[in-house]
Amino acid sequence: MAKKMDFKGRSFVALTDYTPEEIWHLLKRTEELKKLNKRGKNQPILKGKTLGMIFQKSSTRTRVSFEVAMFHLGGHALFLSGSDLQLKRGETIADTARVMSRYVDGIMARVFAHQDILDLAKYASVPVINALSDYNHPCQGLTDIFTIYEKGKDLKKTKMAYIGDGNNMVHTLIAAMAKVGGKIAVATPKGYEPNPEAVRLGKEIAQKTNGSVEILNDPVKAVKDADVIYTDTWASMGQEAEHAKRVIAFKGYQVNNALLKHAKNDVMVMHCLPAHRGEEITDEVMDGPHSIVFDQAENRLHTQKAILAEVMG
Ligand code: CP
Ligand code: NVA
Repeated sequence: MAKKMDFKGRSFVALTDYTPEEIWHLLKRTEELKKLNKRGKNQPILKGKTLGMIFQKSSTRTRVSFEVAMFHLGGHALFLSGSDLQLKRGETIADTARVMSRYVDGIMARVFAHQDILDLAKYASVPVINALSDYNHPCQGLTDIFTIYEKGKDLKKTKMAYIGDGNNMVHTLIAAMAKVGGKIAVATPKGYEPNPEAVRLGKEIAQKTNGSVEILNDPVKAVKDADVIYTDTWASMGQEAEHAKRVIAFKGYQVNNALLKHAKNDVMVMHCLPAHRGEEITDEVMDGPHSIVFDQAENRLHTQKAILAEVMG
């Protein structure tokens, strides 16, 4: 059993809010819950509990994995589309948080503005789980380091190269790798670098954990000696109008077999998905021997169970 720690009632807004020990606790808890699940022994840790799930944006993995996670834990999940809620007609986030807290035991939300997550967490009296904002995606980041750990890697000795847009995903990966004392090298086109505050915070954490955060513009340099290459869409949800412009700006930042040649021979390729095959990643890499993207997708279920069990259990 993972050592007992006090997560009850806490929101899960950013990995930077959790200590390295707490993150390790969640990774170990994930490992236990995944083992139980594989043995057909899901535990009803959240029997009778309810999770309200607000989606202001589309989702496949997050929606399905949270809903299944709640079912496996003996609880119930409600899917609430942002466009059906009164939020759409101007009810405030604060009032939505206060009202929902009277019905449910936890709130999961996928939003555009990160401030909406912060406001939900501020005004709700139940824990709020960030299921992606324009700034970060902590459930995915936790899953990603779990997946690398599960593949037998020592996270402290792991170098991740992130190639592509300086977006919500990379902000979270910087925090995740820094918290576990790993290395991350990010290569983006000029003008698409990650948020400077996310980088500053990541470097500050990495200094304490002996990790490192490097921001570059050269993908070949970034993937040198990399154990993991990670990429994500060039145009995130909400940036659809910039797609054509971005396809031009990101030329040369595709994860393909030519780029993989510059990394370690046994490099693992990750993507949070959905992938835009032929843009940020080729079919040959997605479907090739280095890809672990579907194991990574599966692990959303297991890590989120750990989060739910700890903060709502
Ligand atoms: N990776 C991820 O969050 O996927 P969805 O957008 O399908 O939920
Ligand atoms: N950066 C992507 C991640 C999707 C899971 C987006 O925000 O659309």
